[in-house]
Amino acid sequence: MTLREGLLRVRAGEAAHPEAVAALTRLAAEHGTPLYVYDAETIREKARALRAAFEPRFPRLGLRYALKANTNVEIVRRVLAEGLAPEVVSEGEVRAALRAGAAGRDVLFTSSSKSPSEIDFALRHDVLLNIDNLDELEQVSAAATRLGTTARISFRINPGVDPDTLHQINTGIPESKFGVHLDGGHARAAYALARTLPALAITGVHCHIGSQITETAGYEKTARRMLAFARELKEELGLTLSFVDLGGGLGIPFADGQAVMTPEDLARALKPIWDEEVALLGYEPELWIEPGRYLVAQAGLMVARVNSVKTTPVKTFVNVDAGFNTLMRPALYGAAHRVRIVGRDGEPMLLDVAGDVCETGDILAEGRLLPRPSAGDLVAFLDAGAYGFVMASEYNARPLPAEVLVDGDHVRVVRRRGTFEELFRSEPEVGSPP
Ligand code: LLP
Repeated sequence: MTLREGLLRVRAGEAAHPEAVAALTRLAAEHGTPLYVYDAETIREKARALRAAFEPRFPRLGLRYALKANTNVEIVRRVLAEGLAPEVVSEGEVRAALRAGAAGRDVLFTSSSKSPSEIDFALRHDVLLNIDNLDELEQVSAAATRLGTTARISFRINPGVDPDTLHQINTGIPESKFGVHLDGGHARAAYALARTLPALAITGVHCHIGSQITETAGYEKTARRMLAFARELKEELGLTLSFVDLGGGLGIPFADGQAVMTPEDLARALKPIWDEEVALLGYEPELWIEPGRYLVAQAGLMVARVNSVKTTPVKTFVNVDAGFNTLMRPALYGAAHRVRIVGRDGEPMLLDVAGDVCETGDILAEGRLLPRPSAGDLVAFLDAGAYGFVMASEYNARPLPAEVLVDGDHVRVVRRRGTFEELFRSEPEVGSPP
């Protein structure tokens, strides 16, 4: 058996199987807990499933990876090796993409709040700047003029579509902070202004309607609106676009047996709309899609160890050595990551898995039917490969967890565990003058 086979058993709900126990026991013994474990093959499988769904239907295609889901260089390298290009949100993520071997000109930089130094850095690396608002547009034009270069730009459009996801990650609704509103002629006015400013080259149009979207309807509506807008730009401003980016947001199942939209479902749903609208448009821009979570979430587990188990008059708590400083999604979004108790298959009972952060809200999993573990047992949280480690912090003065990448039976530490020294690395020397 390989380590990977053990990880797959944990995912499949067979965490008491000897292969599952052996794999996680070995990883935890060698690398400690809390630990992020990624499976390289799952990342490849997801990237290939995305390509297999879109490539046959959309000959003019650009697939991107939203690095914010997981910026570890070894993860990024593996996703890019499957033929995807980077989509980033900050200078740090531009740097992560460059570290992973991407060329600056292949990077798309989308953020609603870019600092002057981020704009300069992006321009110096020929990064495609996805503009959020008119103030930023003028700054980019001025910066490109000052640097003697031409900024390749697109606009992030707010298409006014509600894909029915969690409020915090619903980004294309009218009250959202992102992008230029399509309604009311604002988006058209933005392109018209861009044409008059110096040192800008208009390339395409972008939107992103939200994250963890599980149905195709929102994308269908968005595709129609975006392509109708491309037509408006052609007819009214004489502009042709090289791409229409429909964003990321492809959801994953967070529960056993949950059916969600697959890339195949999405590509199939978009195809007739795309063809119809492209015929009206009179030319074919590239279709761009830029998922994060879909590509990496299911490749990751977060493994913690049980410190103690206690039954209060109200509940039974499993206290583990990880918390919202390790995996923030349950506390921040009420996200329900599946939990597997490793090596136990006793009668399930109602348990709360509690974190080690000193806050009442630090519950990693609430009210789950699980076999009762004992101190020292391992607990795995599934689907932690996206928005897991990248959202971790050193809150409560706990060093950051380690990350390891499993490829078959080979394990590689792709980020060593944080240290206590690192907690204090940027503070003045103790005893130095105030
Ligand atoms: N493109 C843009 C412009 C985005 O803002 C995002 C995510 C993506 C692509 C990728 O979305 P994805 O395919 O991963 O859904 N921390 C939250 C998710 C925040 C997503 C923010 N934007 C979570 O843990 O659920």
